[in-house]
Amino acid sequence: MNTVSHNHVDLAGERILGQPAAPVQLSVDALDPRIDVLHQLLADGLDLTSQVKQAHWTVRGPNFIAYHLLFDELAERLRAWNDEIAERCVTLAGTVHGTLRAAARSSALPDYPEEAMSGNGHVAALIVRYTAFAAALRAGLDEVSAHSGDAISQGLLAEILRGVELDLWKLSSHVD
Ligand SMILES: [Fe+2]
Repeated sequence: MNTVSHNHVDLAGERILGQPAAPVQLSVDALDPRIDVLHQLLADGLDLTSQVKQAHWTVRGPNFIAYHLLFDELAERLRAWNDEIAERCVTLAGTVHGTLRAAARSSALPDYPEEAMSGNGHVAALIVRYTAFAAALRAGLDEVSAHSGDAISQGLLAEILRGVELDLWKLSSHVD
């Protein structure tokens, strides 16, 4: 007697043979443009945090301690902003991709130099990246404003942008 059922799971374990296909369920990530914005900003923010720490660890030369401390101060603020961005994502029922590996795959920032540099060298490298991060925040804020009436996400991005612009001014003030 043939005991094979037509309702068994296939080898990949992914579908039931003989059953109608389940309706396609779009995830919140796919349906909500705010999540895309937050994902990109989290990837950029985590990448920038590691780049600032690289500067903290490899700065050399005159005024070492001032740069060393400044870069740690920048990293602490970035860590707090990353946390706010990730938690806004989950509050909106989106997923979070917060590992270093995920950030490295998605970050839009350029790679950071790994050799030891002077404080001025690091400041110049960080200005480029902070400018890019500020532009991403501005574009994200525009996107969220255009596609939702979500004043909380807009307020969060505006607050982070205010802080990033302030840090960009602090970095730029080291340049003659
Ligand atoms: Fe340290």
